Amino acid sequence: MNNDQIEALVLQSLEHELGGIKVYQAALECAVHPGLKKEWSNYLAETRGHVTALEGACAALGIDPQRELPGRAVVRHVGGALVEAMKLARAAGDAAAAELVACECVVLAETKDHLDWELIKKCGEHLTGKAGAALSEAANEIEDQEDEHLYHSKGWCRELWIQSLGMPAVLPPPEEVQKVKTAIGAARAEQAAEQAR
Ligand SMILES: [Fe+2]
Ligand SMILES: [Fe+2]
Repeated sequence: MNNDQIEALVLQSLEHELGGIKVYQAALECAVHPGLKKEWSNYLAETRGHVTALEGACAALGIDPQRELPGRAVVRHVGGALVEAMKLARAAGDAAAAELVACECVVLAETKDHLDWELIKKCGEHLTGKAGAALSEAANEIEDQEDEHLYHSKGWCRELWIQSLGMPAVLPPPEEVQKVKTAIGAARAEQAAEQAR
């Protein structure tokens, strides 16, 4: 195992979760549909928990959670750009358009979040001792939440876009109704939405 790269992954993940709090705060300002607001409010609370879990993982792995690395600065920059994009959309004054922008920003952010936790889980499986146990414990608790964050937000994004185009939309999206937690489940939910149109 490459310990430097494990440290980079944990610190990028921490930075991304810290940015994720700001992304959800901005996204909630843009959300219009009450179901989406409720969903994202839960994800904001869970994201705060992910910060705490990663701070705990840093302690277990002997990583300084404040350490600056080039990759971490990039993650912070991307998160800030997503927040700026949502502010720009809101300033334009079209609430439905801003909601779509927020959906896209959340999907982009959650794609990295999902990858981070998939990789953290793999590191936990391969590392031995206290470090491996700490990563596995955190990932086992959080991985399901990240599946929901990504797949459900993708469903909202697709259906709200379809509604905006004047086609029949399935809201809330089947991903949420079916409590999808896997890629194959998400594919089935999308198919169900197509059949319902
Ligand atoms: Fe997260
Ligand atoms: Fe997430």
